[in-house]
Amino acid sequence: MDKNYYITTPIYYPSANPHMGHAYSSIVADFFARFKRIDGYKVHFLTGTDEHGLKIQRAAENKKIDPLKFCDEISQTFRDLSKTLNLTNTDFIRTTEQRHIKSVQNLWDKLKQNDEIYLSKYSGWYSVSDEAFYNEDELEEIAGKKIAISSGSTVEWVDEESFFFRLSKWEKPLLKFYEDNPDFICPESKRNEVISFVKNGLKDLSISRKSFSWGIKVPNNDDHVIYVWLDALTNYLSALNYPDTDDELFKNFWPASLHLIGKDILRFHAVYWPAFLLAAKIELPKKVYGHGWILSGEEKMSKSKGNILDPIDIIKRYGLDPLRYYLIKEVSFGNDGNISQDRLEDCINSDLANNYGNLCQRVTSFAVKNCDSKIPEKIDFMKQDLEILNKFELNKEIIRKKIDEQNINFYIEFIVNSLFDANKYFNDQEPWNKKNNKIRLNTIVYTTLEIVRKLSFLLYPIIPNSSLKALDIFGIKESQIKFSTISENKYLKHGQKINMIDILFKKIEKKND
Ligand code: ME8
Ligand code: MG
Repeated sequence: MDKNYYITTPIYYPSANPHMGHAYSSIVADFFARFKRIDGYKVHFLTGTDEHGLKIQRAAENKKIDPLKFCDEISQTFRDLSKTLNLTNTDFIRTTEQRHIKSVQNLWDKLKQNDEIYLSKYSGWYSVSDEAFYNEDELEEIAGKKIAISSGSTVEWVDEESFFFRLSKWEKPLLKFYEDNPDFICPESKRNEVISFVKNGLKDLSISRKSFSWGIKVPNNDDHVIYVWLDALTNYLSALNYPDTDDELFKNFWPASLHLIGKDILRFHAVYWPAFLLAAKIELPKKVYGHGWILSGEEKMSKSKGNILDPIDIIKRYGLDPLRYYLIKEVSFGNDGNISQDRLEDCINSDLANNYGNLCQRVTSFAVKNCDSKIPEKIDFMKQDLEILNKFELNKEIIRKKIDEQNINFYIEFIVNSLFDANKYFNDQEPWNKKNNKIRLNTIVYTTLEIVRKLSFLLYPIIPNSSLKALDIFGIKESQIKFSTISENKYLKHGQKINMIDILFKKIEKKND
């Protein structure tokens, strides 16, 4: 079986500091990366910044800074955010790096050699904010201004010499590819959107610009810079040292397992990108997943809309793991999600403090007092113990499958239900009334500790720091976390010392309660 996994986030435009939408994309990608890693995969996890194009050039001009200096600064804030979010990305790519420039120019040459590129003239609408071309029927007029319906951004007229990519030629091959690979575009609603877009007909795509200079030069033609999306998408290859296809990274990790993106950039990833790759005769990625948006009110949270919840502020106030947990749980994956501080506080109080934190505290302090601070030695599982323990074994393969379908909702629901069941089990079994039956008391404690262990393994991809703190009860280190062991009911060593741990999550005092 293929035990390598290559997951990417979009590379972010460093036109402004990161916001919650960016944090969301990255946290979800980190969730998958961590899960796959504890499931025995070698994971390559890429993120970075997308630094060319008119949008960045103008943002730099506004600040009267040289574009590269401008990018240096803001790209660094994204790199810092990766640390702040505790991401386990194995690379961070900038499209201004030589390795990337070389890779893009090589891809261009390949397309040129394959007669996929020709010189002509582009006359049409362009949105700098989306870095996208739009047809007349994709626009509406509001207060005398032309607006792209899908994004709400304004467009401007472009009329200039441009190189074109023969996108129209790939219409049928793309449709066949979608049909042969039903999982290529997920979720299904997005797949249908893409298919109907392609069925409507593809026009050749303008892939160079002449009227500004902030980009990668077209090989042998200094007047043109390469269209920023052809440039940006290629980052997924550059990071594997393409065009050196004999390189270990490339051999191990291409084709990508999963391009995780927001739904606004689906067309680029699910239409243009596979068309470029088909034309260059490079294998296609296995999956593109378009997640929903973090909304603020009814609108997409974005810099241009000025409705931003700052991830750094939230982390300072509540801590990182609560934010990670909240975003993963509250936003039904694949759909848009409305987030609020109020619901974040509820989530911390109920799920994290009351259910998980409390379970950890209760069973450890009980074991410290009643089992001599040790994992109980003599135990004898009864039906009710095995029933709750075996749920993990029963769901092990299902969880793996759901992860491969990016069904985060299933994963989190399984955890929430298991936490509820575990607390109920401990209450119902009343170990405090079993002091005359040492074996029974031991068995209840052992069972509950095993569940804490299993659940902490499952929680690790979501709230890594807190899970590791909980696993400190057993002295379990990060490298020992293995998903496969959630089916073991006697993983914990009898007689081993139990460590008391600090409170995992502080309850938030709510103003209105
Ligand atoms: O699109 N909620 O960069 P970007 C959820 N450079 N996700 C959001 C969001 C929100 N409110 N706002 C943005 C670009 N995102 C290109 C990518 S990839 C080769 C090039 C997501 O900084 C958005 O959907 O505008 C996208 O997936 C990512 O953040 C980067 O957005
Ligand atoms: Mg954007």
